[in-house]
Amino acid sequence: MRKTTLHVFLISFFFFSSILLPSAVAQVSGESVFVEGRCVRCHTIGKGRFVGPDLLGVGERYSRDDLIKWAKDPESLYSQRKKKPINKGYPPMPSMNLSKSDARKVADYLLEYTPPQGLSESGTIMGQVRNITTQKPQEGQDVVLISYMGDRKEERHFAKSDSLGVFSFSSLRWDRSYEIMLFHQGVQYVSGKMVFLPGKDEITLDLPVYDTTSSDENISLRSLNLIVYPDNGGSSVNVTSLYVFENSGDTVFTGEQTDSDTTTLVFSIPEEAENVTFSDSVNPEAAERKGGKLYSKLPFLPGMKRVALGYSLPLSQIGEKFSISFDYEVGDLAVFVRETELGIRVERSGAVAEEIMIHDEAFLKYVLSDLKPGSVTVGVSNISFLKSNLGKYLPAILFFLFVVVGVMYFFYGKNRFLSMNSDK
Ligand code: HEC
Repeated sequence: MRKTTLHVFLISFFFFSSILLPSAVAQVSGESVFVEGRCVRCHTIGKGRFVGPDLLGVGERYSRDDLIKWAKDPESLYSQRKKKPINKGYPPMPSMNLSKSDARKVADYLLEYTPPQGLSESGTIMGQVRNITTQKPQEGQDVVLISYMGDRKEERHFAKSDSLGVFSFSSLRWDRSYEIMLFHQGVQYVSGKMVFLPGKDEITLDLPVYDTTSSDENISLRSLNLIVYPDNGGSSVNVTSLYVFENSGDTVFTGEQTDSDTTTLVFSIPEEAENVTFSDSVNPEAAERKGGKLYSKLPFLPGMKRVALGYSLPLSQIGEKFSISFDYEVGDLAVFVRETELGIRVERSGAVAEEIMIHDEAFLKYVLSDLKPGSVTVGVSNISFLKSNLGKYLPAILFFLFVVVGVMYFFYGKNRFLSMNSDK
């Protein structure tokens, strides 16, 4: 069997656009504040206790002003009533920091809410797994539904998709949030957490999956921004590289498979690089450094992917040069160099600098386009390095001066002695 590493993708945006706001709301309604203000994560309206109390008929217990306080700043209620929590058996409610107008809207929504007729006793989550690569429904796909109480995993439910790729989970409790997870060809797909909205007993969603490929033919580096700036003391230079990659195919790029490992994207880093940080739009710790390379292990879904790579280069000698390499053809390359005494310059033919300001800091910007894999050389000029490292070199300089003076004194003294002698 093929050995595969497990990978995580967030496909939550598919749900949030299609489910959480079923009807496009032109202006922000109380309902959308209730959903987007995250009240739904802890409260149901008329479906029972959840993390917080059921909010059906909550207007009978509180004035409109108090409901606004709950939504905006529960602490003020707690200090007013000298009681925290107010409801027995619940934790205190955290402040949701809603704006005043959002708090008013959600309070009115709670006051006016009437449960719809004919709502089921329990909820259903259903959907279709579609294979985007084959353009067909994915039949026989195992789908796992995980239920949560707050952050705590509660239960797993299992289903298999039918010939139309359709799966369904029914008899679901209202007072849980849910997440869907599945594996397709060794790649894991995870949805964002979902809850049943007030007045809804159904969640439907589409789950797109992709076949995998080890070929990188659809992978390209659209743009690379390099930001080069001296560290505080001037004893090192920080380099931040922002990559925008594109997978223009309809397959997940899972990279070359060696005995124990997979690697997808490769990044050259100078041997002397320290404090290497890597962050992928999905997972921050998914890269491994081996020698002068950093290997990303994450599969690459169709679409864009942003990667940020940072490291610092210690300045150990005067007039130092660094080579910053890129392993892919680059559409647009921009190098931003922070202008300081260090006198950092990009040395590459065709690279013309332009002065720009970013957040009140002066930068030199170099722009290059359509480059083959290669590198840019960054030179740090001599004098400024010496200046900024004066502390380090001062003892040596003083010692040198001391020796020179000593030698001069020796000769001068001797001469005087001789001349004194000859005076006789
Ligand atoms: C992290 C979970 C959580 C979130 C999110 C949350 N609440 Fe609460 N809420 C609670 C808990 C727990 C209580 C009970 C606290 C207490 O009794 O002191 C509560 C109590 C309330 C009450 C009083 C209920 C009663 O019967 O006394 C109202 C009203 C309320 N919340 C409204 C909201 C609104 C509106 C939002 C969204 C803006 C929201 N809550 C978001 C957990 C939450």
